[in-house]
Amino acid sequence: MKNKIDSLVKEAEIFVAKSLNDLECFRIQFLGKKGSISSLFQDFKNVPVDHRKEIGQKINALKSLIEETIYQEKLKLSGTYTSEDGKDLSLPGDDLSLGSRHPISLVRNDIIEIFNRQGFIISEGPEIENDEHVFSKLNFSPEHPARDMQDTFFIERQSADNSHPGDILLRTHTSSVQVRVMENQKPPIRTISPGRVFRNEAISARAHCIFHQIEGLYIDSNVSFADLKQTLLYFSKAMFGEETKIRLRPSFFPFTEPSAEMDVSCKICNGKGCNVCKYTGWLEVLGCGMVDPNVLENCNIDSSAYTGFAFGMGVERIAMLKYQVNDLRMYFENDVRFLEQFSYSL
Ligand code: PHE
Repeated sequence: MKNKIDSLVKEAEIFVAKSLNDLECFRIQFLGKKGSISSLFQDFKNVPVDHRKEIGQKINALKSLIEETIYQEKLKLSGTYTSEDGKDLSLPGDDLSLGSRHPISLVRNDIIEIFNRQGFIISEGPEIENDEHVFSKLNFSPEHPARDMQDTFFIERQSADNSHPGDILLRTHTSSVQVRVMENQKPPIRTISPGRVFRNEAISARAHCIFHQIEGLYIDSNVSFADLKQTLLYFSKAMFGEETKIRLRPSFFPFTEPSAEMDVSCKICNGKGCNVCKYTGWLEVLGCGMVDPNVLENCNIDSSAYTGFAFGMGVERIAMLKYQVNDLRMYFENDVRFLEQFSYSL
C-alpha cells in the first residue's frame, strides 16, 4: 500500500493541467467518490493496527497534496486561458487599427460647424453640371476664359440639335449649387455648399485637378457688405484663433459686385513676415463679394427687394494653412504615414 501511495504522490507532483477540463478529470480521478483517495481509505480498514498511524498520515498528506495541486493549477489557468488544444488564449490579439479621419474631412467639418453656428445650412448639388448652372446664370460672359477647355472638363459639348441646354461639364466651383438653391427657394437664404470641384490643371504642389470647396450665400432684405465682413471675421477667428485679423482686397468675379479677396494675418509670424506668408504678414484665404443683381434676376429673385453676399474657399488651402503642409498632392496620395499624423476625432 505504501508503494501505491508513493506512486500516486509522484503522479500528483508532476501533474500540469492543460485546461479546466483536464483539471476536473484530475480532481475526479483522485477525490471523486470512486477516486484513488476513497479507495485508499477503503483499503485502510485492512491495514494492521501498528501501521495505521504511518499509513493514515501518508494518505492525509497525499490528500492535501492533491488539494493544493488543484488550487495551484486553477490559479495558473485563470491567468492563462488555455484552449483545448493547448493554445494560450490570454495572449493579446492582433492590433485592430481604428484609422483616422482624412485631414480634408477634419477641416471641412470644422468649417461647416463654424458656419452652422451662424445659421448657415448645408446644400448639395450634382458634380456633373450644365453650362447654365456653372457659368451662364452666374453672369459669365460667353467669352469668359473659365469656359475654356483649358480650365473646364467637358463631358458633352452643346449638341447641334439642341437636345440638351448647353455644355455638360464637371463643375468648376460649387457656386452652381447656390444657383440651384436660388432657383428653388425664396429669400431669406443662408446656405453653404461643400463639395468636390474639378479644373483642368496640371497637377503640382500648388494645383490639382480635383479639390474641395465650401461656398456660402446669404440673401435677404438689407444684407450689406458689413454683414459679409462680420461673418468672415467670425469664421477667421474661430478657424485660425481669436487674435486673427482679416483684410479685404478688391478683386473681380463675374457673379459678385463689388468683389474682394480675403487675407488673414499670418499666425506663424504674427504679421511680422516669414517664409510662409512670403514676408507680407498676410495669407490669402478666400474670394467673396456682394451677389451681382444680374445673378439674382437670372434666378428669379427681385434684385430691388433683396441683396446678398457670397464667398467661396478651397478646403485644401485652409488645411495647408492649418497644418503647414506645403504640397497639395499629399492630400490625394493617401500615404498612410501622412494620414496617421491626424488624430482620430469624431
Ligand atoms: N466661385 C469662386 C471660385 O471658385 C469663389 C467665390 C465664391 C468668389 C463666391 C466670390 C463669391 O473661385
